[in-house]
Amino acid sequence: MGRVNIRTLLKKKQQGERITMVSTYDYISAKLCQEAGIDSILVGDSLGMVFQGLDSTLPVTLEEMIYHAKAVRRGAPDLFLVVDMPFMSYQVSPEEALKNCGRVLKETGAQAVKIEGGEEIAEIAYRLIRSGIPVVGHLGFTPQHVNIFGGPKVVGKHREEEEKLKKDFKALENAGVQIIVLESVPTTLAKELTESSEAITIGIGAGKFCDGQVLVFHDLVGLYEDKKPKFVRRYVEGANIFREALKNFREDVVRGDFPSEEESYGS
Ligand code: KIV
Repeated sequence: MGRVNIRTLLKKKQQGERITMVSTYDYISAKLCQEAGIDSILVGDSLGMVFQGLDSTLPVTLEEMIYHAKAVRRGAPDLFLVVDMPFMSYQVSPEEALKNCGRVLKETGAQAVKIEGGEEIAEIAYRLIRSGIPVVGHLGFTPQHVNIFGGPKVVGKHREEEEKLKKDFKALENAGVQIIVLESVPTTLAKELTESSEAITIGIGAGKFCDGQVLVFHDLVGLYEDKKPKFVRRYVEGANIFREALKNFREDVVRGDFPSEEESYGS
């Protein structure tokens, strides 16, 4: 079938087929995503919290994103790969954005970069796209603005917020953005944006009418227990299973039951 590309995803939208995206950061989980038939992987800067144990995405660096994206690409050579651009790697100037996003595409094999924001980054998105760097947008609750928001929140409940979100969406569309992540947005607003646009919407906490859905790998397999937002569905209680396995290993070693003869080399 070959690698999933933007045309594959646009065709899915046109045919009313839902798109699946998983945010993850390493070779093994990426390989599992590809084996499970997921369409796309986002190497999200949520790795700051989930992989590094930080309390926000802000300290994540460009070098770290490139390191993780390379590992993910090795695990999932056939999936549509998007890499999050970290805080302050694209906002300063179009020139810096071009340099940093260009590096990501050249060094990781990603097919697009994701940047957060609407009207204020539309010019940058336009310049990137014109230079051959596809851009995925991110609207609604944007984690890199956590200090402006004061913490996670639903965005678009009030008239003013709704109008702003619609303007931001239009600005990204006009810049040529073909995929837009909607995070923590009311279902009706996400539905309206999805139905009125040719751009693909990928929801996370944005209801079931988006063209696709994204979840963080460690959330959906129940490994990340620090926080569980309302929109997360755990498909397995991974942390319990892993803890149990580790306890069993520990007990076997302490009792002298591991390794057995079969697990050892003879003379
Ligand atoms: O960083 C991330 O993983 C994300 C998704 C949750 C959309 O931005």
